[in-house]
Amino acid sequence: MIPVILRLLALALLVLAFLWLIGMKIVARIADWIHFAAPCPVSFGWVLESPLRRWYLRKVPERIGFRVGERVLEIGPGLGVFTRQAAEHVGAAGQVVALDVQPEMARRLAHRMKIAGLEKVRIVVGNAEALPFVSGYFDRAFAVSVMAEVRNKTHAFSELYRALKGGGMLSITEEFLDPDYPFPAETSRRAGAAGFQFVQRAGGLWTYTSNFRKPAPEGVPVSEV
Ligand SMILES: C[S@@+](CC[C@H](N)C(=O)[O-])C[C@H]1O[C@@H](n2cnc3c(N)ncnc32)[C@H](O)[C@@H]1O
Repeated sequence: MIPVILRLLALALLVLAFLWLIGMKIVARIADWIHFAAPCPVSFGWVLESPLRRWYLRKVPERIGFRVGERVLEIGPGLGVFTRQAAEHVGAAGQVVALDVQPEMARRLAHRMKIAGLEKVRIVVGNAEALPFVSGYFDRAFAVSVMAEVRNKTHAFSELYRALKGGGMLSITEEFLDPDYPFPAETSRRAGAAGFQFVQRAGGLWTYTSNFRKPAPEGVPVSEV
């Protein structure tokens, strides 16, 4: 009898969690229509850093495909779950620039990078919709669970396109548990509208990383992903 009750309880909890997620997604969709996306509060940092989240996103750096010596731009680093890994992958010959719209997030990230001995990571307070960088500077840009929070996504994708070199790569990772989760087709549509070419997608609906390339000028060879 007790196992049956426990099973029913577990099922009820799963259904409630599912309904909550769907409800949140509807609210987020409406917020997006009226351009009311808001950044994840600093007080939610513990969720971003939770061991469970780190575990199910553990393949993200590999899926992004950082290379030694690259100039990498991270949009919305939050507390730096992926910033540190980016810096370690590109090594001393590379450069990581992390841009976050919330000054307090950027301040905490700077503190963490200092403790980790990664002062070389450049942290910038700014908006993805108007990147404060010269055109064609970066080899790679990435964002993990960020794009849904950006109010004007069209501007942000265009800015990422501008900031990358010809042949440069853009990686967008999204996770289903994020209330504003955009489906892969939506991410591809937005990136495509900015001029990016779809290269590949890794993962499933639960968490995916889509990689895009800014086309290289004619005659310039590009390396494989
Ligand atoms: C859900 S958190 C993800 C943090 C980190 N990427 C991670 O996966 O742990 C989203 C981050 O994007 C930042 N953000 C939201 N809108 C932004 C924008 N328009 N420009 C730059 N950063 C933004 C937020 O401040 C927050 O730090």
